Amino acid sequence: MSGNIGHMSTPGAGWLRPRDFYTLAAVTAGAKTTPMSAKHAGKIVAISGGASGIGQAIVRRLAREGARVAIADVADCAQTVELVRQAGGEASGFVIDISSWEQVCGFADQVRARYGVALIAVHCAALQFMSAFDELSSEQWRATHEVNVLGGFHLAKAFLPAMKAERWGRIVMVASSSFFAPPPRMTHYIASKGALLGLVRGLAAEVGEFGITVNALAPGLTRTSKAIAGVPQAHFDEVRNRQSIKRSGEPQDQAAAISFMVSDDAGFMSGQTMLVDGGEGHV
Ligand SMILES: NC(=O)c1ccc[n+]([C@@H]2O[C@H](COP(=O)([O-])OP(=O)(O)OC[C@H]3O[C@@H](n4cnc5c(N)ncnc54)[C@H](O)[C@@H]3O)[C@@H](O)[C@H]2O)c1
Repeated sequence: MSGNIGHMSTPGAGWLRPRDFYTLAAVTAGAKTTPMSAKHAGKIVAISGGASGIGQAIVRRLAREGARVAIADVADCAQTVELVRQAGGEASGFVIDISSWEQVCGFADQVRARYGVALIAVHCAALQFMSAFDELSSEQWRATHEVNVLGGFHLAKAFLPAMKAERWGRIVMVASSSFFAPPPRMTHYIASKGALLGLVRGLAAEVGEFGITVNALAPGLTRTSKAIAGVPQAHFDEVRNRQSIKRSGEPQDQAAAISFMVSDDAGFMSGQTMLVDGGEGHV
């Protein structure tokens, strides 16, 4: 997966191009379904994991609010890009493995060439699977951390230099409420999300002087299409009953929080974890 961190190159050094690249131009007459706003107009966003689920909702929200969004995902982003296009926004998908430093450098180069300087980076990609600790292999542990933690490190590292130069930036790592209310059979995942929170706290202390905020979003159980297909309704009901807000979380709930966290309005918040879980966690 990733190379030796000690021998990392930097974006712009002619690294690998993504295996696939596509974009659909923004406005098509008559295609708008949701009114656009100018909240993030002029902003360029780099996001991992925007092909589906919460990431897709974030891309749609930020694009609807005027940002141009570049998505790095191992999966095909065509559906996300098409939904953005239909709403009159601008997004591009790049087939990138976020755990590969070389590929993330290639992504940063492509984003700069296509859109310019991205000052907002959101790490949403994750490996999510359940396994009893006894059955967990070191390969599974390593793979989880390479996507969930190393991926966040790569995304931040690739886009930080431009943020520092511009003296403005927003970095958000998508963690999980499971760190605060840990379920069984997810030790590998919970540990990776805890590491992300450490990354956020440490990096926030280091880059604040450049006008860059670094925060984490910790979603509660969210009704993505994969979760609806894979999680029994009884579990959704159980979680909903523990929440203060008596409905299940939707991807749009997380996208709304991200929209705030990457805005100018959030300029005095850094090193924090925003728990968006309907009040389940009480932390
Ligand atoms: N859905 C929930 O209930 C829930 C709850 C808490 C936290 N989260 C977090 O929210 C985020 C989004 O989760 P989701 O439920 O929408 O999942 P999802 O599986 O729909 O989205 C994850 C995306 O990451 C991509 N991805 C996986 N490995 C990658 C890699 N190596 N490089 C680039 N992209 C890669 C996948 O292709 C996918 O598009 C994750 O960080 C997850 O841990 C989700």
